[in-house]
Amino acid sequence: MTRGRFITFEGGEGAGKSTQLKRLVERLRALGLEVVATREPGGSPGAEAIRELVLNGAADRWSPVTETLLMYAARRDHVERVIAPALARGAWVVCDRFADSTRAYQGAGGGTDPALIASLEAQVLGETRPDLTLIFDIPPETGLERAQARGGEMRFESKGLAFHQQLREGFLVIARAEPERCALIDATGSINDVEAAVWSAVDDRLAVS
Ligand code: TMP
Repeated sequence: MTRGRFITFEGGEGAGKSTQLKRLVERLRALGLEVVATREPGGSPGAEAIRELVLNGAADRWSPVTETLLMYAARRDHVERVIAPALARGAWVVCDRFADSTRAYQGAGGGTDPALIASLEAQVLGETRPDLTLIFDIPPETGLERAQARGGEMRFESKGLAFHQQLREGFLVIARAEPERCALIDATGSINDVEAAVWSAVDDRLAVS
């Protein structure tokens, strides 16, 4: 059985990732592929319980290092119980956020030592790495406006513009450092334009159609 493909969606707040993820999943399923759509933090019952802890409460409820460890506890459970078994049976996995969000939010934004994060990636994820990462780029002012219009402000949305600018830069650094894995998507266009850019990246890199 050939291993499935693993695609992750990354970017700051309000970049339209979730809408685009749904559209991509529909297109892949229309081709007859088995697709597992999932998200982080969360995606398995244990990881969803950790999500509740880490996303709710005051902005300073957890330090960046504690957040990093909580994200990796959730991620390990999600990888062990959902992602790795799906890839092993040949399914495609499309995940809303993954390890790059920890690099950007807890690392670039929060100041966690990149060496700690790199070591967690190596020890906790092992072979389970994305084949393709779509990084949705949008100016933080626009993204935060969209996220606030959506309602239900969460811990990371309340951290202020400077934090979100660092996040954006953190994601751009990842895209530049790993161009073979990452495709940068301009998320400022219309939903249909962004969908076309997503499809073209997926088809170019993973030859689906
Ligand atoms: P979202 O589901 O709206 O994208 O919210 C998830 C939030 O969790 C978002 O603010 C980013 C944050 N997050 C991290 O800070 N680190 C991580 O590793 C992940 C996966 C998410």
